[in-house]
Amino acid sequence: MSSPSRPRVFVSRKLFPETLELLSQHAEIDVFDRAGSPSPEELVARTKGCAGLVAQGTDRIDAAFLDQVPGLRVVANVAVGYNNIDVAAARERQVVTTNTPDVLDEACAALTWGLILGVTRRLGEGERILRAGQWKGFQLDFLLGMDLVGKTLGVIGMGRIGQAVAAKAGAFGMRTIYMRSPRRPHDVVTGPDGVAYEGTTFENVLQRSDIVTLHCPLTPETHHLINHQTIRLMKPTAYLVNMARGPVVEEAAIVSALDNGWIAGAALDVYELEPIVHPGLLKFENAFLIPHLGSATRETRTAMCNLAARNVIDVLEGRGPVTPIPGSHIP
Ligand code: 8YV
Repeated sequence: MSSPSRPRVFVSRKLFPETLELLSQHAEIDVFDRAGSPSPEELVARTKGCAGLVAQGTDRIDAAFLDQVPGLRVVANVAVGYNNIDVAAARERQVVTTNTPDVLDEACAALTWGLILGVTRRLGEGERILRAGQWKGFQLDFLLGMDLVGKTLGVIGMGRIGQAVAAKAGAFGMRTIYMRSPRRPHDVVTGPDGVAYEGTTFENVLQRSDIVTLHCPLTPETHHLINHQTIRLMKPTAYLVNMARGPVVEEAAIVSALDNGWIAGAALDVYELEPIVHPGLLKFENAFLIPHLGSATRETRTAMCNLAARNVIDVLEGRGPVTPIPGSHIP
């Protein structure tokens, strides 16, 4: 039964019916149900008067937005990454911010291996040739790739997803090294697979790895971490994989690196200016490109939406949220 006293929640993108059902048991919901996402103006207009907002990584939640929606108490991002949210600005305004960690680790890790296999075994090229009717039949030296066994995987961003990726490296016969960080400063960590991974410097990871895979959050420190200078540290036989956020890599640097043979290939799930892809990347057969699909399984996206809904409900009903963003206001 709808009642005017129930809190209002704006949902900025169509979610799964079960999530909307869950939310509507606790709040009056308004769902943006057109294709794409609301413009910044529509996001403000429809969030006005709401106590909760279920947002996506494409919604910019900054001080200017928050100042226009004074009654807002919680922003629940349907994403583990929260570079779209100014967490400090929200905290100053006593708005709780939440994200969806954990539930997407395995989906993102599995697809990272999809990217690794896609680029090292030239799957995109093969499929394009086959569909174009250009396959001439078996040939011993056709589309030769690189073996993974015996090679080194370099993880930049050894958080939950990075660890889930590393845990599968042993199955491919690879050893793992990773970039030490303030949150993970150790020389060695033992992964969930019981294997020890060596922690080292960023430069060393780039110099030694056959595959450099990115899983760090986008922050001012990680913006353009891979750029025209740092990409030159990689081996010419090595591959770069980005499952993190587009701006962690300067896309023009990948184009230069592929153009000049500084690296063997790149596999990307994310881009600097999504949905725009640097046109220079499209001309390379050794760029394996997919459209931000890291967490895109039915099970995982459902779990992410339900976790975001749970976070909103908890805050609106006076409980602490399940997964607050680090540094969030907690009422
Ligand atoms: C999201 C992601 O689906 O969780 C993240 O950080 O990048 C994806 O899994 C995407 O950001 C939509 O909000």
